[in-house]
Amino acid sequence: MKRRRAFSGIQPTGNLHIGNYLGAIRQWVALQVEFESIFCVVDLHAITVPQDPRVLKGKIRETAGILFASGIDPKTVFVQSHICAHAELAWILNCNIPMGWLNRMTQFKEKSQRQRERVMAGLFDYPALMAADILLYETDIVPVGEDQKQHVELARDVAQVFNATYGLTFKIPEPLIPEAGARIMGLDDPGKKMSKSEDRPGHAIYLLDPPDAIRAKIMHATTDSLRDVRFEESRPGIYNLLVIYEAFSGLSRPDIEARFEGRGYADFKRELAEVVIAGLNPLQSRYQEVTADPAFLDSQLAEGGNRVRPLAEKALRLAKERMGLG
Ligand code: TYM
Repeated sequence: MKRRRAFSGIQPTGNLHIGNYLGAIRQWVALQVEFESIFCVVDLHAITVPQDPRVLKGKIRETAGILFASGIDPKTVFVQSHICAHAELAWILNCNIPMGWLNRMTQFKEKSQRQRERVMAGLFDYPALMAADILLYETDIVPVGEDQKQHVELARDVAQVFNATYGLTFKIPEPLIPEAGARIMGLDDPGKKMSKSEDRPGHAIYLLDPPDAIRAKIMHATTDSLRDVRFEESRPGIYNLLVIYEAFSGLSRPDIEARFEGRGYADFKRELAEVVIAGLNPLQSRYQEVTADPAFLDSQLAEGGNRVRPLAEKALRLAKERMGLG
C-alpha cells in the first residue's frame, strides 16, 4: 500500500529555536516512520523580508544541518529555490487567490507592522507560495506549529476552488498540529510567540545554544509574583515554561505539578534547564558531524532536489494544462 505523504517547510532565517523544534522538527522526525516525507528549506520565503545575501547562503546550510542532526533523513530534504516549479505554481495560484483571503492572514498583519514602509508584495503573497509548496507534492498532511495553520487552510481553500473550476488537479492537504509545544511563547514576553525574527538576548532558546546560555535564559525568564508551579493559562510566563517542560520531559501535567508541589519557581527553572539541555544534547553533538564537510552537505541538498523535482514538475504540468496555458 502506498504510504501517505507528509510535507513541511522551514525558513532559513535567524536562529532556529525550541519553538521550531517542538512545534515542527521533532514531529517531522517521528512522522518519517509512518509517512513518506518531504521537507523543504524555504529560501524563497526568507526573501519576503530583507536578507543579507552573504548570511542567507550560510543559513540555508545551517538549517539543513539542524534538520539532519535532529534525525531527518537527508534524502528527504531540499532547498525551495532549487526547484523552479515552486515559483511558477505560486504565480498560477496567485491568479486564483482573492486579495481578501490574503488580507485576512494574521501573520502578514504582524510581519508587515514590523517592516513598516518597506513591506514588499512578496510578503503579502507569501501564502500563495506556501500553497504551491504543499500542492506540488500530492501532500496528505502538513505538520506545522499553530501559527502556520491559517496558511495551510488557505492552501486547502485554493486547491478546492481550483479543482472545482478547472477539474480535479490537487490533493487536499490537512494540517497536523502537535499536542504539546504547538505554540511556544517568548521567554522574555510570554504574550508573544517565540520567533526567529526577535533578536533580544533573553527571548528564545536557540537549538545550538550552549548549556550555560540555556541555564541563564531560563533563570531570567519572565514569570509572576506567585510561587506555585501549576498549569494555569492565566499565568502565561510559568505556563509557557511548564509547556516546555511537558514537551521535553514527556511527563503528564498532573505528574509535573505533583513533582514541583511546594518547591517554588527557582527550583523548577533549574530542573527545566537541565531537561532542555538533555533534550537538545543529541542534536547538538551530531550537528558538528553533519556540517563538517560543506561540499558534501551541498551535494546532499542537490540530490534531495533531484529526487523530488519530477513530482513537482508533473503537478505543475497538470495545473498548466488544466488552465489552458502554453
Ligand atoms: P517558520 O520557518 O516560521 O517555522 C518553522 C516551523 O516552526 C513552527 N514554529 C513554532 N512552533 C511552536 N512555537 C513557536 N513559537 C513556533 N515558531 C515557529 C512553525 O509553525 C513551522 O511549522 N511559512 C512557514 C514555512 C513554510 C511551510 C511551507 C510550512 C513554507 N512553505 C509549506 C509548511 C508547508 C514558516 O515560515 O515557518
